[in-house]
Order: sequence, then C-alpha cells, then structure tokens
Amino acid sequence: MEILRAIKERRSVRKYGDSPVEREKLDLCLEAARLAPSACNIRPYRFIILEGAARDEFAENAFSGLYSVTRFAAKAPALAVLVSSKTSLTGFLGRQVQGVNFKLVDIGIAGEHFVLQARELGLGTCWIGWFDKKKAKKALKLGSGEDPELVISVGYPDETPPERKRKKTTEISEYRNNL
Ligand SMILES: Cc1cc2nc3c(=O)[nH]c(=O)nc-3n(C[C@H](O)[C@H](O)[C@H](O)COP(=O)(O)O)c2cc1C
Repeated sequence: MEILRAIKERRSVRKYGDSPVEREKLDLCLEAARLAPSACNIRPYRFIILEGAARDEFAENAFSGLYSVTRFAAKAPALAVLVSSKTSLTGFLGRQVQGVNFKLVDIGIAGEHFVLQARELGLGTCWIGWFDKKKAKKALKLGSGEDPELVISVGYPDETPPERKRKKTTEISEYRNNL
C-alpha cells in the first residue's frame, strides 16, 4: 500500500524551494536505486549528484540554447545525472541480438526507484531527458566509456502540480488465456 501511495502522489515538480536536500535523504534515494533490478545484475550506470557550483556549471552547459526550456532544473538544489557505461555486455548483446537497449531499461528502473523514494521523503523530482548531452558530458569530464543519459532534478517542492492525464488500464493492458 505504501508504495502505491508514493506512486499515486508523485508528480513532476519543476519549482523548488531554496532549502538544500539533506545528504541522508539523497543517500536513501541512492540506496533505493542501488537495489533496483538490472539485466544480468550488471548495473551499467552510475549516479552523479551535483550540488552548488557543480550544479550551476552543469546547468549552464546542459540547459542552454535549444535546451533552455529545461532551465527550471538549474534552480533545483540537486541534480542526479544518470550516466551509462559503455562496457555493458548485456547492453551490447541486447541491442545487437534483440534490438533492445537494456542499458536504458536498467537506468529507467533505477531512476524511478530513486524518484519514488524521493517522493516518500517529501522531495519533488523531475525526470529530464531534454538536455545537451555533448556539453553535459564535457562538463562532467566523462571518458569515452560513459554517457550522461538522463537527469533527475531534486528539491523541496514549491508548487503542487496537477495530476496528469493517464491512459486507462484497458488501453495499456490486456489479459489473454489463449493466443
Ligand atoms: C524519460 C523521461 C524524460 C522526461 N524529460 C522531461 C524533460 O526533459 N523536461 C520536462 O519538463 N519533463 C520531462 N519529463 C517529465 C514528463 O513530462 C512527465 O513525467 C509527464 O508529463 C507526466 O507528468 P507527471 O510526471 O507529473 O505525472 C520526462 C519524463 C520521463 C519519464
């Protein structure tokens, strides 16, 4: 029941108060992410948490020009950058053989664990896919084996976003007894 409440109450929060996010709370979100399932248990990613000057410099690069619509994230007290590693064998095999990017699936699951734990702790988050990956990678000084895939902004909510429309359960699922 508790998990369903966090799921129902979660919204994308794009306005944050000035209070910093306590390190213990970020650690709990990271612990939730660490426990996420992952194809072949490889976890081909890491989270880089940016605060203060690091957050400012990253935002300056990642949310500029075409990507300035995502500028709201520059005001989040913390940014979690989800970085994928290229060394993943499952990622390679998944894409080559099955055409499935397991690396991104893994990142999605871990990120949502993070987000739901944040909600449970009274924090607001927003998934951000719209950012300048090239500039972000350079700003983070990542090597050729790593790529920033997604960002999650984190902070205490300074808005109460409305519940967004969802498809009906029958539109996203079906039960079958026979094929
Ligand atoms: C993978 C992913 C990428 C997203 N990228 C952005 C983004 O770049 N900018 C933004 O404002 N919201 C972004 N969102 C948030 C969605 O717009 C939001 O989840 C959706 O509109 C539903 O609203 P809700 O989260 O409040 O339920 C992203 C969400 C996901 C899952």
